[in-house]
Amino acid sequence: MSSCPVIAIDGPAASGKGTLARRLAAHFGFAHLDTGALYRAVGVAVLRAGGDPADTSRALSAAQALSADDPVFADPALRGDDAAQAASQVAAMPEVRAALLDFQQAFAARPPGGRGAVLDGRDIGTVVCPAAGAKLFVTASVEVRAARRVKELQAAGLQVIVQAVQEDMKARDERDSRRAVAPLRPAVDAFVLDTSALDADQVFAAALAFIRSKIGPA
Ligand code: CDP
Repeated sequence: MSSCPVIAIDGPAASGKGTLARRLAAHFGFAHLDTGALYRAVGVAVLRAGGDPADTSRALSAAQALSADDPVFADPALRGDDAAQAASQVAAMPEVRAALLDFQQAFAARPPGGRGAVLDGRDIGTVVCPAAGAKLFVTASVEVRAARRVKELQAAGLQVIVQAVQEDMKARDERDSRRAVAPLRPAVDAFVLDTSALDADQVFAAALAFIRSKIGPA
């Protein structure tokens, strides 16, 4: 049985992994899954229902009720910082991670379009797709990542305090890296790409060279 190629991209907040994942998916004609959106959707669902994202039973119910065509995926609140913080709280719960695992693995095994899949997140190379053909860990200094997130938020018309963005990002990095289940860390066979001094084109070129060496030109 032949399976589709899978590209796994992990990394901390605002490291550029989402931009890279979308670009690689377009280049190869593969389907893309932003797995952070799943955790954000669970966080937003709990907040919208007036719940506390630290409440495991509410977070689990929200994860179990989530469907691929849920309107929350088109909600601008999904990209906001409240959603990010709530996502990282629900993402530390093993029950929530388990509830979202099947969907992610099914996407990688049978991606829409049937050509291949690019998944980005925190645990794709380590837990979701440990057999992925190419694994990248995209990172950058916290200062560079905070500056990128500030630019994104300002472009979306939001008022931001740079210091607050940096503090929130550090808190989320810390929670994501220290959690007991599926912590943020590179897979042993991942290509670690530090994007602090690179622009999007340079990141894409470096990633492409690595992926071609692993899965061929596709
Ligand atoms: O875009 P950004 O990097 O800021 O965050 P995201 O990828 O949308 O992820 C939001 C949160 O979801 C992260 O801080 C993680 O806590 C969690 N997450 C995770 O635990 N595992 C994944 N595969 C993806 C996201």
